[in-house]
Amino acid sequence: MKKILCTTAVAATMLVACGPKVPQLGDASIDEVIAAMTLEEKAHLVIGTGMAGFSGDSAVVGATKKLVPGAAGTTYPIERLGIPSVVLADGPAGLRIDPKREGDNQTYYCTHFPIGTLLASTWDQELVENVGKAIGNEVLEYGADVLLAPALNIHRNPLCGRNFEYYSEDPVVSGKIAAAYVRGVQSNGVGTSIKHFATNNQESNRMMNDARVTPRALREIYLKGFEIAVKESEPWTVMSSYNYMNGVYTSENPELQTTALRTEWGYKGMVMTDWFGGKDAVAQMKAGNDMLQPGVDKQYTAIVAAVKDGSLDETVLDTNVRRILEMILKTPRFKGYEYSNKPDLKAHAKVTRQSATEGMVLLENRNGVLPMTASVKNIALLGCTSYDFIAGGTGSGNVNRAYTVSLLDGLKNAGYTFGVDLKKTYEEYIKQENERNKPKGDDKLTAFLPTPRPTEMSVSSELMTQLVAKNDIALITIGRNSGEFIDRSLADFSLSASELALIRQTTAAFHAAGKKVVVVLNIGGVIETASWKQLPDAILCAWQGGQEGGNSVADILSGKVSPSGKLPMTFPVAWADVASSKNFPSEGRMSDFGFDRRNTDKKENLWDYTNYEEDIYVGYRYFDSFHKPVSYPFGYGLSYTRFEYSDAVVKPEADGFTVTLSVKNAGTVAGKEVVELYAAAPDAQKANKPEKELKDFVKTRELKAGESTKVTLKVKSADLASFDEKTSSWVVPAGTYNFLVGASSRDIRATLPVTVAASSVKANNIFKPQTALKTLTR
Ligand code: BGC
Repeated sequence: MKKILCTTAVAATMLVACGPKVPQLGDASIDEVIAAMTLEEKAHLVIGTGMAGFSGDSAVVGATKKLVPGAAGTTYPIERLGIPSVVLADGPAGLRIDPKREGDNQTYYCTHFPIGTLLASTWDQELVENVGKAIGNEVLEYGADVLLAPALNIHRNPLCGRNFEYYSEDPVVSGKIAAAYVRGVQSNGVGTSIKHFATNNQESNRMMNDARVTPRALREIYLKGFEIAVKESEPWTVMSSYNYMNGVYTSENPELQTTALRTEWGYKGMVMTDWFGGKDAVAQMKAGNDMLQPGVDKQYTAIVAAVKDGSLDETVLDTNVRRILEMILKTPRFKGYEYSNKPDLKAHAKVTRQSATEGMVLLENRNGVLPMTASVKNIALLGCTSYDFIAGGTGSGNVNRAYTVSLLDGLKNAGYTFGVDLKKTYEEYIKQENERNKPKGDDKLTAFLPTPRPTEMSVSSELMTQLVAKNDIALITIGRNSGEFIDRSLADFSLSASELALIRQTTAAFHAAGKKVVVVLNIGGVIETASWKQLPDAILCAWQGGQEGGNSVADILSGKVSPSGKLPMTFPVAWADVASSKNFPSEGRMSDFGFDRRNTDKKENLWDYTNYEEDIYVGYRYFDSFHKPVSYPFGYGLSYTRFEYSDAVVKPEADGFTVTLSVKNAGTVAGKEVVELYAAAPDAQKANKPEKELKDFVKTRELKAGESTKVTLKVKSADLASFDEKTSSWVVPAGTYNFLVGASSRDIRATLPVTVAASSVKANNIFKPQTALKTLTR
């Protein structure tokens, strides 16, 4: 064989042939690796490896086996440069991968942890960080590298189908809970992707819908949570959203992905699209949306062509590539971590069981009916959902778990018995109902959609008489399922006729016999409560507590744990009372499917818009500023004990204020309390500012009866600023602000006036709406 002579002359053109000179990621600098990459390799790296079917890293280039079956995506490997393919997998309530693999007897179940809304209802950043740790451990041990979570879009309207994945109507709760989650997951050496950046507040037509929002509402409400999460937790990646925002796809918007995110907030990580999000690959590269997932050929071709014809500067592409390589360098796959495929699912079941109890919210408890006293042994367990408990929502936020503990099983495990065993009757009935409700067609998407809940079974008066005679108490579960791809309808928000009939019939019969009735809400989002809440003796909003849900509810009902969750959103009296309802579809609309669009552009006529006319008046900011009655206010939740606040004082610090107070458990059982700190600006009405805004919150440790603790809350002066559109600045007018210490947004226990000096910080003049918005003002 003829030897190639390695001279300096030929070396420049024949580096590869002259020995191991090709720079390897990790050994060589990133600059050297990028310099060695061909344009084609760069274009491959910035798009994923494609996606056949609905889930899965189905197209790992050159691999004979999928890396982690059921993961949402992978990055493009370039072996000659030592760049491995890394695995991206959903999602917020736990890792979503396929539980079974062909020709393999092992199972790959993951723990279904509580939904995001429940985690936020704990108001406990330490707890959420611990849940994140457990989730991240499953990511690591199942061989994934980046978890596509947390999801922190604002609960703009109760009907958003993905609210269950999201945290709150308030950006401080959303941002701080997300940051805690990110810190927990990333402590395992795996990454997160905070999503969906930004204004993905509805599923209706999500890929073709323009969210029209003022710069002020963006800055103060919709971006604020992301800003907090970026600054407090440094997520490895950010996922841009599907929708347009003020006329531009968020993934194609440099103001969002670069000016705000990187220049203003100092973000150093990588941005990826949501799956098939956006349209113009070159615009996405330029915007700073570094990676396109899952990647389609058309994007590759467009990027290569644009560099060749000079419309995309290769240095822009190099920046995108650099951020991806920096991410890959941190991954366990790059580091060669030998994952076990055997995370400790038993230990994690305990984590989910305990964390779920901490986020359940006791809405009513007349005459202390809960916890159930020792005299309660036999329970009349009603409502289909009691037997078919909902662990979480559907779509990419679902988790393939090994089991779900129903309320029936949870109560059994806690030693309760049932005067009349309704298990078989209900199970048969649910089967029939599910058959009746089975969606038509075999569309793969169907599996991802929430299935209609069964109509409640009617209970004959003979059976009800028997139930009353043989039981000490009645429990009724009301269930709601929601998920990605579809918003909820107004009908889903309201109780159905069969549900109302069941509550009426049961309460009438049990109350006539001097017995109590408890309603458990196994729901993923807000429902109507005002019209029926006076009927039962207690209402526990259990949310969707993950796979151990039934055990967690039993822990609360039995008094093993005192409820300590509080609402991270308002429960309105009526759906129409919510300010955004004027601009939110109520019929439960689907997302469009933008897939074809990339090849045909046929669906362009689906373009639509949503005017965010309520502006900054989202949730309690609206209800409290406009003095509207609510069913349950933001920040509200009962306990089995009661707490007294005292000695609240405020102290100025170098860059803000510290509020301290004593919280005393003044009741008879142990419990934890959430303390909320709001700020009320001077002349709020005149200045068109909310009546009050949450600035900080804290949850106490468990306090024994009679025990006190001191809590500390902090507000930076800069956090008192509102965004002034005229000058594009964050402005704090001088004056007297009131710090309000509350047990909820409508239960203020102390008012602390503080004098604040004026300040103003210039921001970029970006996010201009392309059409005038008629916004709500005070
Ligand atoms: C969802 C994302 C998810 C992605 C990958 C999309 O449909 O909007 O939240 O991470 O799919 O599964």
